[in-house]
Parts: sequence; structure tokens; C-alpha cells
Amino acid sequence: MTKSSHLELGVCDYPEHVPQDRWAVYAQQQKALGLTYVRIAEFAWALMEPAEGQYDWAWLDQAIETIAAEGLQVVLCTPTATPPAWLIRQHPEILPVDREGRVREFGSRRHYDFASPVFRAHSRRITRAMAERYGQHPAVIGWQTDNEFGCHDTARSWGGASAAGFPAWLEQRYGTLERLNEAWGNVFWSMDYQEWNQIRPPTLTVTEINPSHLLDFYRYASNTVQSFQEEQLEVLRELSPGRWVTHNFMIFESGFDHYKVAAQLDFASWDNYPTGMLEFFSGWMPEETKLHYARTGHPDLVSFQHDLYRGLLKRPIWVMEQQCGQVNWAPYNPLPADGAVQLWTAQAWAHGADVVSYFRWRAATMAQEVMHSGLLRHDETPDRGYTEVQALSLDAFPLGDIPARVALLHDYESLWLYDVQRHAAGLSYWAQVMAYYSALRRLGQDVDILHPDSDLSGYAVIVAPALTVMTPERAAHLEQAAEHAQLVFGPRSGYRTVSGRTPEDGQPGAALARLQGVRLLNFDSLRPGLEVPVAGEDGAPFLASSWAESYRLEGAQARYRYGPGPQAGQAAVTEQGAVTVIGAHSDGLIQAVLQAVLQRAGVPVEPLPEGVRVSRRAGRTLLQNWSQTEVHLEGTVLPPPPSPYAEDKMRLHAGASRFSLGMNVSAVRIGTGWFTRDASVYQESDLDQATHLAVTSLKWLLVGWASSPHSWATR
Ligand code: GAL
Repeated sequence: MTKSSHLELGVCDYPEHVPQDRWAVYAQQQKALGLTYVRIAEFAWALMEPAEGQYDWAWLDQAIETIAAEGLQVVLCTPTATPPAWLIRQHPEILPVDREGRVREFGSRRHYDFASPVFRAHSRRITRAMAERYGQHPAVIGWQTDNEFGCHDTARSWGGASAAGFPAWLEQRYGTLERLNEAWGNVFWSMDYQEWNQIRPPTLTVTEINPSHLLDFYRYASNTVQSFQEEQLEVLRELSPGRWVTHNFMIFESGFDHYKVAAQLDFASWDNYPTGMLEFFSGWMPEETKLHYARTGHPDLVSFQHDLYRGLLKRPIWVMEQQCGQVNWAPYNPLPADGAVQLWTAQAWAHGADVVSYFRWRAATMAQEVMHSGLLRHDETPDRGYTEVQALSLDAFPLGDIPARVALLHDYESLWLYDVQRHAAGLSYWAQVMAYYSALRRLGQDVDILHPDSDLSGYAVIVAPALTVMTPERAAHLEQAAEHAQLVFGPRSGYRTVSGRTPEDGQPGAALARLQGVRLLNFDSLRPGLEVPVAGEDGAPFLASSWAESYRLEGAQARYRYGPGPQAGQAAVTEQGAVTVIGAHSDGLIQAVLQAVLQRAGVPVEPLPEGVRVSRRAGRTLLQNWSQTEVHLEGTVLPPPPSPYAEDKMRLHAGASRFSLGMNVSAVRIGTGWFTRDASVYQESDLDQATHLAVTSLKWLLVGWASSPHSWATR
């Protein structure tokens, strides 16, 4: 995917948005900025084919040649996220249908139903036309399929072609209606079907939808996304040999099974908008947290996506679109903090990105995204992000492995079933998973996020925060993993069978019960303010909020029990051999249990101050402070960082030891020889040599810097 030995950069550009006389100027500037890749054309179908079968390639030929002339490489996209008006008006049946049964109209983007046979034919046709023309162009290095599958809630269409194809898909899955009725439990409320064509997408029902019906519709829709992309892949593989193909996945997108949709790509990429993510996608986060991280986004939300997408194919990723200024689509769109673009870039590298490509080159001067920033302002002057990109020193970010000893298991089917019956409004699948992920990150862990059925060898600790769907095969796989690793399960593990029912012998089903040594006793849904104490043998009790489930011990021992309340005295956290089960939702409890488990597994643990995070890649360690405030540590007050704009480069090259808690600046020179310009990377070996300290002695480093504030002196 890249031959470079270090991180490379790119940009998303839209030649079709600016006069042609700007193209060469931009390409020169992009080259001068140190960029390698330019992604183009994902929304340009109407220009490529203004009328059916009439292609206009002249502008795109010229755009590609102009980029290539600077030695930049082109990432080309299939333009299917924006079917042109002529196509839609000729075939309105392409348009998707929303949950309320309304047709979603032409006039923005993603206005198509993945199942539409007409659209699929046109998708294959435009992909073929593009690939025939550019598939072997020397400057075209790879392809992006479409753009952000599922964005704007478009993974599923609830009528039209999707609805029409659903019964046949079910028939193939179940063979007989008896089997389907049984799998879905349709005897409940007399929902049995007598004919396949009686079955519709699960929407507009009078009251709750049968979760099994919904689960299968989600599976069907996900398969439809997958096969839609496969059709494009087939064409690209045929006509563009030697080029890679990726897709730019989205923040917390839940509309399809990414493991399946990514399976035939060369690598996964995703679009990283940290401040938008915090404002738009993290409904469960308290207001005060959102305020605290308003200008950077939350470190764990962002690194979670990197880890998630790296885990799809267990390969390095690209950030195909990286926020480099303010966005336009969240309720609030603050300017990022000074240094945030470097902070995000360094973090992306540390979590497995080989390429970071900024969105976008110049701020749009027309239409929906005029309030969005780019590396250049509307008036073409370099914006704040540009300055930060310019100051990056890429050889500070060598490519290589991430030495994660912890795996976190994630599964889209569990997500779908969890979220359709949350039972406690304060908690969702992502919120629960993030609670475990964040605890691991607060404990200084690098984390691989993996599908539960994937190879789990080599990990010391495996955490399954919300593995709702369990099968005997999956349980056996996990049992095997418990032979070499500590396993931790969160609440609602094994609540559902593969068809969405509960196991007939109760949760978590015989196989998992054997492994965990427990059976579910009760679950308790807690409204805001209703909290339940959970106590271990010593220490102050934790307070469970949102969710508290208890267990009957069948071999396991109780490590924590519930205090006063309906589950008083019952087991809340259990342990059997290498397997721990956590039944109560409490950040503090989760962290305490995970810390003990990590220690038991012999994994070094270093609890970090709020907003400070550590990540390792290619033998280097990245330490970052994402908070906008000073950090208090062991009685020492660490002052807030100076703005990177106030720093002069000479100062950064000063010889004095210092450790900055700066927004983007992390570790800077201790001893000799390891300092880098962006100051965000240090080499563990040098550090050890210089300080005779273990790299994990972050406290020492933090305190060390605090006691030598004069190290800012300029030379
Ligand atoms: C992404 C999308 C881009 C652009 C961007 C704005 O979701 O892929 O086309 O709309 O958001 O932040």
C-alpha cells in the first residue's frame, strides 16, 4: 500500500470546484507542502457523464495530468455516492426509502438504494468506464470505492428494491417459513408468516419491532452493501491491476458489518473528524467532558476508530479524510486548538495509519459545505491547519507494528441486538464498549480491536465488553483463548443466540456458562441518579449506574458483590480461572478490575492523568496530552503548554531536557539523540539509556519536566 518507511500525507481535492487555472498552482503547493497523495473525483459523476453514455473525460484527464506532473499520486474514487439527476429522474426507483416510508430525494448525496438492480448496473458501468480510462494510468496508485457507505443513515433502505429483495434473501437463509417463524419466535403476538412475500422491512409497526426480524434485516442490508461493493471491486481488479482498493469508513458507523464489507479490500481507511465526532457521535458523554475536549475531540473516541479499522483486516490503515480545521456538520463546530492537527496526525500514525490525508485542500466556495474549512481558506491563503502540516517532520513517524498485548472484541451483530433493546436509556453498545476501551487506554494499554471469531493467539488479555451474540462455536473459540490469555467479559454477554432469541437454558447459554462459571440471575436497569453500590473485599465501594446484573455461581468466585438493593449480596464481578465477568456498569470498577487482570497477566500498567495518553508503534512511544488545561500529578502542578505557534523551532532543538504536556508536543529530548522536530515521538531504547528508567515510568517524566521549567530556554 505504501513503499515509504514513514508516515506519508495526502489531501482530498476537488479540481471540479475551482477554475482550471488553479489546478497547477494547487498541485505545486501540495507538493511543496510535502504531500504525496491527492484523492479526487468521488462526487463528480455528473461531470464525467453529463448524459447517459456520453462521457466527458477531458477535465479529469487534465486534472490527473496536472497532479501527476508534480509527482503526486492520485487516489481515484468511483463516483457512486452521487448518482446524477438524469439517472434519478429516469429511474426514480433508485432512490432510497427512509424508516417512515418516505422517498429520500435527489439534491444532496447518497440518494440510492444498494439493492436497486438498475443502480447496480449503472454503478458497474461507470466503474468500468473509469477503470478502462484510468485503471493503468501511472499516477493512479489506488481506488476508493464510493464514499462513506452508510453516511446520513443510508446503509438501509426501508422500501423499494431493498424491501423487494428481503423475502428472497430470507428464503435462502432459512429454506422454510417454519424455520424462519421458529428462529424469530413469531408465535409471540401471532407474527407467523404463511408466505415469503408477506415479509416487509421491520418498520412502521404499531409498537416494538421483533428484534430477530430486525437482526435479519440488518444482516440482509449489510450483505447488500457488501455485494454492491464487490461488483465494483470485480471491475477494478480486472481493469486496474497492481492498484489497491480501499473504502473510507465512518466514525461509529453501525449500518453494516464492516468485517464483511472490508474483507476484499486491500486495506481499510476511515474519515477522522475528532471535534465533530465528540459533538455529533458521542451522545453518552457528559456535557462537561464535551466541553473539556471541545477543541481537540476526545482521545479515546478517536483512537478507538483507528484501532477498530486497523483490526478489520489486521493491517495498517489510511486516514482518508483528516479534519484540519473546523467542520460544518455538528451542532457546534469550534476551531480546533492550536496544535490539534499535529496531535491528530501523530495519534493516527501511532494507531496504525501509514497515510493521513487531509480534508480538504481549499475550503469550498459553494453549496452545502461552505462553512467547512480546508488547508487553504476560501481566499486561498494557508489556514491554521496548513501551518501545522507544514511543520511536521515525517521521518519522526516510522511505519511498523503496534505491540498490543490486549485485544478487545467487537461484533456488529451484538451491537444491533444490544441497541434494539437497550433496556436502560443511559447505555448503548458503543457506550459500553467505549467504557472498557477507555479504561484500557487510561491504564496505558495499546489495544487491538478484533472480531470475536478471529485469531486470538498472542494476546495476554482479551476483553469482550458487550458480546451479546453467542454461539457454541464462539464459546469454544473463547475457551481456547482462555488457555493462554486472561479473558474479561462485560454485561449482557451471551444474552442472545444467533437468531436473536435468548438461550433456552438461560443466559449466557451452557457453553459460555461453563467457561465463566456463572449463570445470569437478574439484570437491573438504572435511571439517572439511581445507583447501586458494588463492593470488593477491601476498598471503597463503586457505584454502578445504568446497568447492574448479578450471577449465580457455578464454579466461579465472587470478587465484588452488590450492596443494598434488590440484588444485595449477589455477585457483581466473578472470576473462574483466567475468566472474569463484570456485571455492573461503573467506570471505576471496570478500571480496577482490568488493572488487576492486566497485572495478573504480567502486562505493565501505568495509570495516566486525565487527557494524557500513551501509544506505541515501531519501537517508539507517543505520549500526548489532549487536555487544554494543566495536569496535576502527585502534588505537582504542571502548567498548560505554550501555543505551538509561539514556539520557535530553535527552541525545540534546544539541548535541555524537558517534557512538555503541550497540546501536540509530547516528549522532547532526555539525554541525547532522540528528539524530533514535532516533538511527539521518542525512542524507547534511547530513553532507557538516557534515563535508566523504564519507558513506562511516565510519572517520573512528567514530574521531571515540571521540576525543570527552565528547559524552555532558547538557544
Ligand atoms: C465526510 C465526507 C466528506 C465531507 C466531510 C465534511 O463525512 O466524506 O465528503 O462531507 O465529511 O466533514
